[in-house]
Amino acid sequence: MNEHLFEQLRHFLLMTRTLAVGCMQFGDTGKGKFIDLLMPFFDLNVRGNGGANAGHTVKVGDRLLALHLVPSGILHDADGKINIMGSGMAIDPLTLCHELDQLELASLSYDHLRLSHRALVVLPWHILRDRLSDTGTEKIGTTGRGIGPCYSDQREGLDINDLLNVDVLANKLRANFRHHKPFLAQADPAALANLLKTPALASGSYQSDHDLLNMDAVIESYRQYGQRLAPLVHNTDEEIQEFWRQSKRILLEGAQGLLLSLKHGTRPYVTNCDTSFQGMALGAGLLPEQVDKHLGIIKAYLTRVGRGPFPTELGGQRSDDWCNDPDITRKVEDERFPKADVNSSDNFLSGVALRKKGKEFGTTTARPRRIGWFDVPLLRYARSINGPDLIITKVDVLDECENIPICTRYCYTGAEHLLPGQKLTGGLYLNSVMEPRTEILQHCNTIYTHGPGWQQPTVRLTTMADAPEKLERYLRCIESWSNCTIHLVSVGADREQTIVRSSDPL
Ligand code: IMP
Repeated sequence: MNEHLFEQLRHFLLMTRTLAVGCMQFGDTGKGKFIDLLMPFFDLNVRGNGGANAGHTVKVGDRLLALHLVPSGILHDADGKINIMGSGMAIDPLTLCHELDQLELASLSYDHLRLSHRALVVLPWHILRDRLSDTGTEKIGTTGRGIGPCYSDQREGLDINDLLNVDVLANKLRANFRHHKPFLAQADPAALANLLKTPALASGSYQSDHDLLNMDAVIESYRQYGQRLAPLVHNTDEEIQEFWRQSKRILLEGAQGLLLSLKHGTRPYVTNCDTSFQGMALGAGLLPEQVDKHLGIIKAYLTRVGRGPFPTELGGQRSDDWCNDPDITRKVEDERFPKADVNSSDNFLSGVALRKKGKEFGTTTARPRRIGWFDVPLLRYARSINGPDLIITKVDVLDECENIPICTRYCYTGAEHLLPGQKLTGGLYLNSVMEPRTEILQHCNTIYTHGPGWQQPTVRLTTMADAPEKLERYLRCIESWSNCTIHLVSVGADREQTIVRSSDPL
């Protein structure tokens, strides 16, 4: 990073010892870039929740590493810096070992990487359950990484420490499998056999001719994972408290987005842990009050992966169906809509164009992300939980828009619906904060205010003084409607494509 940006960020973080950075929308807002950018100012990078459902790409020279579990600050290993995968995470040991292989291939050290002995372990039957049950009309559109079943299994499931103790491991694996066996026994045998052939399930090595799966092979694999991971395993909850007492600077990295939180999101279309700042802190081994500052990331527009309510979606149901069709890949979309234009009169096509410009395809599943305009009631809701300090990303994706709508309120169109102290009826305007209930959001029309686009490239901007006035107006509009402050602006994937907008420390 250049010296000027370094100095600006140093000044910005002057008063911050423990900082949490997380997404205020539906995920995929660019946390990885900011963890990497801010890591020079911190001693520790800790991830406290989620698992291999998340994904970020790390660029090392010409090589791109797709990481899902290893925290985004992994490249920073100077001056005793430490990366922690905290006790709130759900770890698939097969994926983690694969990520360690990738780091080794790129000649990157992971001596500074630690794994909590209390983190949950994703087991083969969690992945099978996730993939076999997320179908039909009830489909959530999960990432299929076993995250939901693993978190649901916290009482009987295994944690990382169990991998270190061979007898305990074998007994617990057999006992846990007994809980899941009835579900697998009623699954379609052909579907089960096909899934067991996939790399996510050890490419056929768990298959058995006379049982649902080969338990001995599973036990042996997990024993080997334990051996490989043992040097990384620490009591990180205890250690992070000690680091905090020593006044080390701690950077907490979120996973997914607030609206995908089990506690605060649009249930059932959520992941299975609390992705709010509070959840991030607890999963990292800190109390929420031990975190001094929060920076929430918003994207200049919205995206959502999988099913679930999305009021500002460009193209509505057509987009939802298109993006959730397993046959639609980036290539298919390019061939079908080679000339999609952001300024098209067809919203669906504007969405296709923004998806292409913003490279909005999942890092974990390669699925097209659904695209929507900026949603102020959603941000107001996110602010009420995560606070008002923001980073905005992917501003450059809107560079060609002639006109940029911002949703400022909803009009409820559904049947009578009771909320505490409030009765919703069809035709009622919902003017303030989003109520994250699927049954309400599915029946909300969106009302927009329209501003002119800036229609000039922003990718080379380094200061707001040179930014188009219409861009500044867009940011002020978001701030004033939501009562938030945008401190940092990102206009591209590179570290240098970052503008520090605040002149005061956070
Ligand atoms: P799960 O976490 O795989 O159970 O998926 C539950 C929901 O969260 C689905 O809608 C997923 O698409 C969504 N989801 C999970 N992880 C991510 C992520 O990293 N980015 C965006 N969406 C995600």
